[in-house]
Amino acid sequence: MAVNLKMTGLSGFVHEDELVNMKPMLQTAQQMLYDGSGAGNDFLGWVELPNRYDRSEFDRIKQAAKKIQSTCDVLVVIGIGGSYLGARAAIEFVNGQMYNGVRPAGIPEVYFVGNNISSSYLNDVIQIIGERDFGVNVISKSGTTTEPAIAFRIFKKLLEQKYGKAGAKERIFATTDKERGALKKLADDEGYETFVVPDDVGGRFSVLTAVGLLPMAAAGVDVDAAMQGAADAYKAFADGIDHDCARYAALRNILGRGGKELEILVNYDPSLVMLGEWFKQLFDESEGKDHKGIFAMSANFSTDLHSIGQFIQDGTRNLFETVVWVKEPRSESIIEETEVDMDGLNYLAGKSVQFVNSKAYQGTLMAHMDGGTPNIILEIDRADAWHFGYLVYFFEKACGISGYLLGVNPFNQPGVEAYKKNMFALLGKPGYEERRKELEARL
Ligand code: PA5
Repeated sequence: MAVNLKMTGLSGFVHEDELVNMKPMLQTAQQMLYDGSGAGNDFLGWVELPNRYDRSEFDRIKQAAKKIQSTCDVLVVIGIGGSYLGARAAIEFVNGQMYNGVRPAGIPEVYFVGNNISSSYLNDVIQIIGERDFGVNVISKSGTTTEPAIAFRIFKKLLEQKYGKAGAKERIFATTDKERGALKKLADDEGYETFVVPDDVGGRFSVLTAVGLLPMAAAGVDVDAAMQGAADAYKAFADGIDHDCARYAALRNILGRGGKELEILVNYDPSLVMLGEWFKQLFDESEGKDHKGIFAMSANFSTDLHSIGQFIQDGTRNLFETVVWVKEPRSESIIEETEVDMDGLNYLAGKSVQFVNSKAYQGTLMAHMDGGTPNIILEIDRADAWHFGYLVYFFEKACGISGYLLGVNPFNQPGVEAYKKNMFALLGKPGYEERRKELEARL
């Protein structure tokens, strides 16, 4: 089984009849995703995407990835939010957090920029590139998002200085709107190869479009396997509501209504840290509106057991955990016996590090349950491209169902504009003069 939802960690927190009672609502919510009868129905392109993606663009993505691999030591991926998190989550999930250090020959290092406003971070990446050959994949639906726009100005200039305008255009790949927007216009004017952010797929649902697929393919991730994983998940969750995807959505809803208003996506391997970041955007932008929603967070165990573990065990009882447990690590390590048992670890001699990790997982699960924190468990066999695609579709569909159960439009994000308007006003952007006066008076 690809994703196995286990109820072990919910004993005493959720009763079977609560799940049964939710069936009619689940059926309706799922149906709304298929027939487009719910709010935000112009952003449902991700639902059928695993079966209906553009095959010719997919082939072009693989060709562009080969070109990047043969001409670049470093690929700089510029984007933020939905134009960033999925690709990085995929690369780290499959190749590990140290992917740049352990990559095979022929695969470029990949750095993500334009996802913050730190000049130090930008300069560090420039220093890492040094004199080496590099290319850029700039990803922005609008082309005017501040963070990636600043980064693209800088890296475009560096490319043009190093390779000339004609050489630079061979190294810039733009993923953007198919016909509108500042980046599309610039790409057409300058002759960059372009890839499409589909109109009906919102940023946080776009990882299995060119947005995620080009950086993934360039980093050596098997994108055919990722799409197959998503297609297999589509099939597994297509009929009825007696499947783990609907069950997960229902469980979140039941727990949320019972006062568990914070969900922590827990991993036990650093390869999944960015999956947690992607998950946070998916659920928080989809559900956190109209003063409703479960606040999705993430935690990395056992690391965070030594920090926020105290709160999860014994703090305010308003949270639940969703653990993604990967059964087989990418590589194994065995604990050896030492002559002097100074650290008292000889009782583990001959055991694998993953064995110790599995006991940390089981022990933590029961401790947190005993402390009043319910756990939803999602077990997968291994963290490869196929499982990534499968998990992406699992969470996306669960998120759509969950949003409709909550009664919100899961596919808009009106709340993210508020800070931008203030920032533009304070920066002195033309058109924001009145707001600037008002804000400066408050500062
Ligand atoms: O999910 C979203 O819509 C956002 O996270 C956007 O992807 C993000 O703000 C970047 O926007 P753009 O691709 O227009 O630069």
